[in-house]
Formats: sequence, structure tokens, C-alpha cells
Amino acid sequence: NDISLAQLINGLLRDVEDFPQPGVRFKDITPLLADAAAFGACIDELADLPGAYEADVIAGVEARGFVVAAALARAVDAGVVPVRKAGKLPPPTLSARYDLEYGSAEIEVPTGLLEGKRVYVVDDVLATGGTLAAAIDLLSRAGATVTGVGVLVELSFLKGRARLDGHDLRALLTL
Ligand code: PRP
Repeated sequence: NDISLAQLINGLLRDVEDFPQPGVRFKDITPLLADAAAFGACIDELADLPGAYEADVIAGVEARGFVVAAALARAVDAGVVPVRKAGKLPPPTLSARYDLEYGSAEIEVPTGLLEGKRVYVVDDVLATGGTLAAAIDLLSRAGATVTGVGVLVELSFLKGRARLDGHDLRALLTL
């Protein structure tokens, strides 16, 4: 425990230039997820963040957010709901289109599971915030109360935090 969790995470990220598009520097968290001690420490830390423990359900954003959501759900004794790219979930769903750092995208949540639920939302990386803003909007429209938002890494220079107005966003590492 000589180094902080943020330093541990930082050492297990890999920058990939020009992926998935030219001009984008992709943050690869695969080495972090593959490291048992680091991944475990991340989940323990997320479980202690405001809003996580009281959640009925953890919502994870496709695809790497699923990994975080499932592990966190077990840590706080919650269920899991996926926020998926359009066309992957069977109906009934709610969907939202939004702008990405690269291109645009559409995500969906299942309806019928979320009314009255307290939902904590997780993803691996916060970049422009478009994805998490859309996810929060969908979860709210589906009748859930969002108790907080947690990410492993926040790319603060992209100002995604500003798009999550009013929500308690916490990041384990801010770059
Ligand atoms: C990445 C990341 C977040 C999103 C962040 O997902 O996992 O979900 O982008 O970007 P934003 O804050 O600018 O919206 P990606 O689209 O690469 O999907 P994947 O996890 O399925 O590969």
C-alpha cells in the first residue's frame, strides 16, 4: 500500500494512439481488469463511494462497464442492469442517441425492471460524458432514481463531468 490506488490504476492503463479512429488516444483498461489485486482494489473503492451501497441495482454501460457493474453488484449485494448499444436488447426498451468523442451512438435500457429502483451507474472511462449522460437520462425515464455515478478513469480535459449536472460523479483516477 505504498502507492495510491490512482497510481496503481495509472500504471495499468495503456494508451493506444489512433484507435478506434485516427486522432483518438484510446485508454485501454484491459491490463487493469486482468490484475487481480488492482481490479479488486477498484471494486472495493467503488463500493465505498456515495450512492453505491444503497443501490438496488448497478447499471453498467456496454461493454467494459458490464465487467465493473457485475463485480460491484456482488460487493454491495445489488443486481445488475445492462445499458446496451442499440439493437442488442429485446423489447421493451427506451433508447437515446448522443454524440461521442468519435461519431455518434445510440444506447438502450430495458424497461419494466427499473421503476422505483435505486440505481448506481458505472463505466470504465468518462470521456466526453455523452454516454453516461444518455445512460442517466434513460434510467431516469425508466423510473429509476440514480444514486450516483462511478468510473475508473475520468479524462477531465474532455469536460464530461459538466454533462452530468446534479449527479455525484466519482472517479478512481482523474487524468
Ligand atoms: C467507451 C467507454 C465509455 C465511453 C466514454 O466505450 O467505455 O462507455 O466510450 O465516452 P464518452 O464519455 O465520450 O461518451 P466505447 O464506445 O468504446 O464502447 P465499448 O466499451 O463497447 O468498446
